[in-house]
Amino acid sequence: MAGFPNPLVPRTEMSGADSRSACTSNATFNPMSSDAAHTLGPLLAKIDPWARYGYTPEALTAFLAGQEADAARYIISVDRALAGAFSVKKNWLRGPYLQFLGILPAYQGQGIGTSVLRWFEAQAREERARNLWVAASEFNARAISFYQMHGFDRVATLTDLVVDGTAEILLRKRLIGD
Ligand SMILES: CC(C)(COP(=O)(O)OP(=O)(O)OC[C@H]1O[C@@H](n2cnc3c(N)ncnc32)[C@H](O)[C@@H]1OP(=O)(O)O)[C@@H](O)C(=O)NCCC(=O)NCCS
Repeated sequence: MAGFPNPLVPRTEMSGADSRSACTSNATFNPMSSDAAHTLGPLLAKIDPWARYGYTPEALTAFLAGQEADAARYIISVDRALAGAFSVKKNWLRGPYLQFLGILPAYQGQGIGTSVLRWFEAQAREERARNLWVAASEFNARAISFYQMHGFDRVATLTDLVVDGTAEILLRKRLIGD
């Protein structure tokens, strides 16, 4: 797709503090490993939105361990302990899509999600992306307000996307003209 002449190439080890803004977490981001996927899958399957949707530990493990050239999965670590995972789909709609973000409960509310968004934005700006994209389930009010707090606006309601009767909210952050 036009607008992305270079792929987002992760460094071997990236600190949440490497992003352009100061951040409070000491999280590091590394490419997903099979072992980490097998540990994180069952832990993330216990929390919403995945618990509410009935994702099995195996399904989440398979997703996290999956290898897609344009959608890398990352481990989030704090002091070498697993704290969560995220995945960025490159070149989505004139910008990348954060297709998965899960912080384990013990690590929530410590600025780690903020570090991930700052890194996501910094990488996209380096690639001269026009937009950042995320989505959250309509029932996930905390995630929606978290994204809004970081400059994302609701742009669409995708009804019955994951299961009938619930909606996903698509949010966009414009990087051009801000
Ligand atoms: C939603 C989610 C990604 C946010 O990540 P997080 O690491 O908890 O977010 P942050 O800590 O950066 O910021 C969230 C809150 O912590 C507060 N905070 C930020 N830094 C902090 C710190 N150093 N100490 C204490 N609180 C802090 C923020 O003010 C914010 O408060 P609020 O939620 O009460 O409004 C995370 O909670 C999560 O993974 N939830 C479950 C899965 C999910 O919903 N994923 C997203 C949609 S699929």
